[in-house]
Amino acid sequence: MTTTIDTLTARAAVHAGSGQEMTLHQVEVAVPGPGQVRVRLRASGVCGSDRHVLDGDWTLPSPTIMGHEGAGVVESVGPGVTELQAGDHVVLTWFYPCLSCSACREGRSWVCTGSRSEECLLPDGTTPLSMDGQAVYPYLAVGSMAEYAVVPVQAAVRIPADVPFDVAALIGCSVATGVGAVVNDAEVKPGRSAVVIGSGGVGLCIVMGLRLAGAEPIIAVDVNDASLELAQGFGATHAINSSGRTTEDVAREIRELTDGGADYAFEAIGRVETIQQMPPFLTRGGTAVVVGLPPQDRPVALDLLAFAENGQRLLGSNYGSTVPARDFPLLARLYRSGRLPIDQLITRRRPLDEVNEAFEDMRAGARGRTVVLHE
Ligand SMILES: NC(=O)c1ccc[n+]([C@@H]2O[C@H](COP(=O)([O-])OP(=O)(O)OC[C@H]3O[C@@H](n4cnc5c(N)ncnc54)[C@H](O)[C@@H]3O)[C@@H](O)[C@H]2O)c1
Ligand SMILES: [Zn+2]
Ligand SMILES: [Zn+2]
Repeated sequence: MTTTIDTLTARAAVHAGSGQEMTLHQVEVAVPGPGQVRVRLRASGVCGSDRHVLDGDWTLPSPTIMGHEGAGVVESVGPGVTELQAGDHVVLTWFYPCLSCSACREGRSWVCTGSRSEECLLPDGTTPLSMDGQAVYPYLAVGSMAEYAVVPVQAAVRIPADVPFDVAALIGCSVATGVGAVVNDAEVKPGRSAVVIGSGGVGLCIVMGLRLAGAEPIIAVDVNDASLELAQGFGATHAINSSGRTTEDVAREIRELTDGGADYAFEAIGRVETIQQMPPFLTRGGTAVVVGLPPQDRPVALDLLAFAENGQRLLGSNYGSTVPARDFPLLARLYRSGRLPIDQLITRRRPLDEVNEAFEDMRAGARGRTVVLHE
């Protein structure tokens, strides 16, 4: 028996340029090509990276379908695909590996040099989505704020069907990024001290990762008391509201709590000013991990004399050095066992019609993650 696969139309949140609200449009979704799968999306997280795009912080092809933290069900597969079949539950990765560059061959796909996901394109340089005959670009080749996506098969990772879609969506960005920054990048050992600057979706996942790794103390810094309260629920042992305080004043408090400065500092906001705070918060030999992404062309000033004399390290963390096929099922297992309470990150669920309001939640300093659900 042969089944025919046709093009589809899907509702999608389209962003036409910085400063503009997203609008909902019907877009055409192509038939999956060789090595591709088409996914019926069920949930999309609302991540700080989407907000950077809406704010025009980074240059991207336009118009863009927003969302890169998504999960759903495989609807159909293209020629040659044997790894997945219709009905499989999948988490999408926003940095699909090319599978052929030297980084991919060495198993370090988070530094793949052949992926076209940052151009919002499939490996063959096309986009599977169009609107009134005009190309539209799924953000990071995902575009999860739409009812359907077409992605390369290596961008869709099967997970157990009993993991709820909203939880699964968060595994695709904030959880992989935050837990991976601790476990894969910093390689934090039990008993080491850590500061996390920013307790939003990503920062809270860093706190969860630090608890998993056995860090002590875990100090959360934020300007919002509600976010700090949530951080304590995820395992932060101390909370510092830095609003209106100088870096030196906060650094002094951290030194008292840690016996001279933290072993690790993670920035999870994406602001130049808070990235610059990391070295003063650290002890000698400490490690600063850049997870938050600043706007492009905004250099950071660091006192490199002090940095070198103190023997400190600066790590850039992309996607928590995640290997999606290895790490997404592992993170789902830690959720199912209760060791990563990802569901508690979700403080609000909204339908796609309320996508602009979902970003307003975030701008208003809403704690935790809002998830957009596609019914
Ligand atoms: N490196 C990666 O691979 C990667 C992956 C995903 C997201 N990110 C980046 O991580 C950053 C955070 O994303 P998110 O989704 O958690 O955003 P978010 O808006 O949910 O969280 C930001 C948090 O920072 C707090 N904050 C704001 N200004 C502050 C200040 N001056 N001092 C202390 N706290 C402050 C807010 O109250 C909020 O709790 C973004 O820059 C995003 O692009 C990076
Ligand atoms: Zn993200
Ligand atoms: Zn590659």
